[in-house]
Amino acid sequence: MIAVILWYVFSVFLIWFMWDLLRSQDTPPGPFKFPLLGTLVQISLADPIPYKAFEKLAKKYGDVVSIKLGLKDAIVLNSYQSIRDVFTRDEALERPVYGPWWDRNFKKDLGIIFSSEELWVKIRKFVTKGFRDYGFGKKNSMEAVIHEELQEFTDYIQNLADSSPGNIVHFDTFYHLTFLNLVLSMLVGKRYKHDDKQLRYVMDNVNHFFKSGVVGAGIMTAYPFLRYVFPTMTGFKIQMEAIQAYHSYAREVLKEQRQLGDYKTDPQCFADEFIHKIEETKNDPNTIFTDEQFIILVVDFIQAGSETTSNVFNVAMLHLALNQEMQDKLYKDIVQVIGTDRYPNLKDIEKLTYAKAVMYEAHRYSIVLPHLGLRQVTRDFYYNNYLFRKGTQIFPNIPAVSYDKEFWGDPENFRPERFIGAEGQLINLDRNLNFGAGKRNCIGEMLSKDSFLLYLTRLIQKFKFSIPDHLPAPRTDPMLGFSLTAHPYDAKIELRL
Ligand code: HEM
Repeated sequence: MIAVILWYVFSVFLIWFMWDLLRSQDTPPGPFKFPLLGTLVQISLADPIPYKAFEKLAKKYGDVVSIKLGLKDAIVLNSYQSIRDVFTRDEALERPVYGPWWDRNFKKDLGIIFSSEELWVKIRKFVTKGFRDYGFGKKNSMEAVIHEELQEFTDYIQNLADSSPGNIVHFDTFYHLTFLNLVLSMLVGKRYKHDDKQLRYVMDNVNHFFKSGVVGAGIMTAYPFLRYVFPTMTGFKIQMEAIQAYHSYAREVLKEQRQLGDYKTDPQCFADEFIHKIEETKNDPNTIFTDEQFIILVVDFIQAGSETTSNVFNVAMLHLALNQEMQDKLYKDIVQVIGTDRYPNLKDIEKLTYAKAVMYEAHRYSIVLPHLGLRQVTRDFYYNNYLFRKGTQIFPNIPAVSYDKEFWGDPENFRPERFIGAEGQLINLDRNLNFGAGKRNCIGEMLSKDSFLLYLTRLIQKFKFSIPDHLPAPRTDPMLGFSLTAHPYDAKIELRL
């Protein structure tokens, strides 16, 4: 009996294996695909950190590599050219939605990050226009909101430094709250005070969510069902608690804005405009404007917009604290263009080439999202004679671009000068693929860059950051999580003005 069962199992595997082999004929080269495991064994043996493992596989198989995560076919892109070429194709516009990401979306096609086809086109158009007309509220400008936010944030830094022995401050999730606040301001048209209960509630959950992702995310990509079997070990439990917190925050926003009633006649913010649409289309059974749609959009913006900018900013500030010469150079530029007192504005930052170079270098160095937002093939296509089959996931491997030794020479060093040409002009900017590429690129790129530069100039104009010799030397390798950033460190903050 046992022999019959074994024979049966063996035959099924053999047939499956032959079928898989035939299917793989035109696909890019890659490691042998084991039944059920795919190439997981070879990936983990190459390196426990996926982006490093992908680089090692690329050395053996080339820039475009086929892998299999459990039962899911995937292709890794390991060069600037291949990521640019594939990401700008219409057949690679969608994102895979599985496991916790599907649960977070009420198991429906909703929001902007994970929505598909026509819905995505409509929602992206609405969001782009909505933020243009109402971002930061009808009566506020982005700059005004950022100035207000910076005022509260710099007061906080000053008080913290003054009350800390030796002005030594601990930097962990230091910049998260202030950048999250900017993203929420875009949605609700008002800025929360830093001790606001709603803001703190969302913030705590953002921190929990991102710290939960190191182990669980990889396993759940290959075997999403494991989230139900090992909810704690995979991080799924914490992630779902955080998501539910975002959902309830979004419901609160809907309730408050409905009570205020501006949406009926004179929408004041993005949330009002959305509720206006919900009411206008409530008798249309095919409407895309629903409470659930708004809730998932809020989750999308919290997840995409808060930790990303703050993590890159954190990396820039660490390197400025480590390198006084670099910080002095930036300070001198700021004083020359803006002076020591006035708040920087968007016109000023246009003239601050070195500040921009610091920002681009922080993006390059931090590899904040090593695999960007994943994509998925919606129609078979050939790239460089390789078949990209419908349903295949696409993993861009950004470190292969940001740390390309051939292009950068010394990628391991934090050196903003690599973005400045002989005539003092910015160069190599197209090499920054951190915001993705093509029609589905990051919708928050401008907000992220403008806020980054306004924060950078104001903080360096006002404070000096340093790492005194008696403090432990900070680590400069990336700390892993859903997005990457610097490891926690201690630094001294002194007031300049
Ligand atoms: C350092 C800052 C940021 C980085 C590195 C970043 C990176 C990315 C990347 C790589 C994607 C996927 C792009 C692609 O598939 O080609 C993306 C999408 C997105 N980002 Fe960002 N982002 C940042 C800041 C922001 C901010 C501040 C917001 C919101 C205000 C935001 C909102 C979004 C949204 C909504 C999407 C989904 C777009 C879509 O699928 O159509 N991001 N971002």
